[in-house]
Amino acid sequence: MNNPAHYPAARPRRLRQSDWVRRMTREHQLSSDDLIWALVVHDGVEDEIPVAAMPEAPRLSVRAAAKAAKRAQDLGIPAIALFPHIDPAKKDAAGNEALNPNGLVCTAVRAMKDAAPNVGLMVDVALDPFTDHGHDGLLGNGRILNDETIAVLTEQALIQVKAGADIVAPSDMMDGRIGAIRTALEREGHQDTLIMSYAAKYASAFYGPYREAIGSGKLGSGAHANPGDKRTYQMDSANTDESLREVALDIAEGADMVMVKPGLPYLDIVRRVKDAFAVPTYAFQVSGEYAMLKAAGANGWLDEERAVMESLLAFKRAGADGIITYFAPRAVQLLHGHS
Ligand code: PBG
Repeated sequence: MNNPAHYPAARPRRLRQSDWVRRMTREHQLSSDDLIWALVVHDGVEDEIPVAAMPEAPRLSVRAAAKAAKRAQDLGIPAIALFPHIDPAKKDAAGNEALNPNGLVCTAVRAMKDAAPNVGLMVDVALDPFTDHGHDGLLGNGRILNDETIAVLTEQALIQVKAGADIVAPSDMMDGRIGAIRTALEREGHQDTLIMSYAAKYASAFYGPYREAIGSGKLGSGAHANPGDKRTYQMDSANTDESLREVALDIAEGADMVMVKPGLPYLDIVRRVKDAFAVPTYAFQVSGEYAMLKAAGANGWLDEERAVMESLLAFKRAGADGIITYFAPRAVQLLHGHS
């Protein structure tokens, strides 16, 4: 960069002196097109069940989720990312309910597509909402089995796509799952199905509230010998080069879009990935980030609305093409000037 001017020839404050010049020189913009609404759906009858750590982001019934899809369409939100909270009685060690074509995810996808055909529906591919031990994959001798898990995930993805999902988003971090899912999709005639890979997903404390939201119990407890964290499959938060290797593999295996997760604490990774690969790159502002902003806002410690909008814009500045966020509908209202 070459900016030879010095004070007083250069007075950077000239460009900040009023709203019109700030708007005119602004480099980045947030719009509703940048937002993917993260939504938790449950299989009960109540329209909304509050999640203590996620105020104003309740679990929705299928009926309420269909209404939410319509709302997304009206607000110009391009897509919804769906996460299930199922009846604990339906969980088992193998996560068999993930393969039920009439299970919660498929039922919700059909209802939402019906209500709002122009909203893209993204579904998680992972077993944790369905296993009684809360891990994303199958367990054997206290370890998460890679290749055995991939076989199940591939079936799960196909079932969700047959129900109408537009984007499958493997969030499990098994090695080789993108290639297996892409091959199966091509074989079954689903060549237009998009894959958004949770490519650089870190083992993070910021997923805490999500466990409550989907009702997945404490890892390491229960009837099965199972690890107390996800560190053998999710990435170590000290690493950055590793994220580039993960993304390279997933693109080579057939991912159309890649994701970095969590969001705000990992903006350096978003920037590195976007610069290195120039593919559609998304960041997930996860449950713990949502909880922090809501908690500080509720206490009057932060101006919540401004902090939310500032955090969303930060993703754009870091190079993200979009943000998966529980704040999506609220953010669109704020963009339109309604509080
Ligand atoms: C499941 C999954 C997780 C999230 C999305 N998909 C949790 C985890 O991997 O432990 C986190 C979402 C959030 O915290 O908002 N594989």
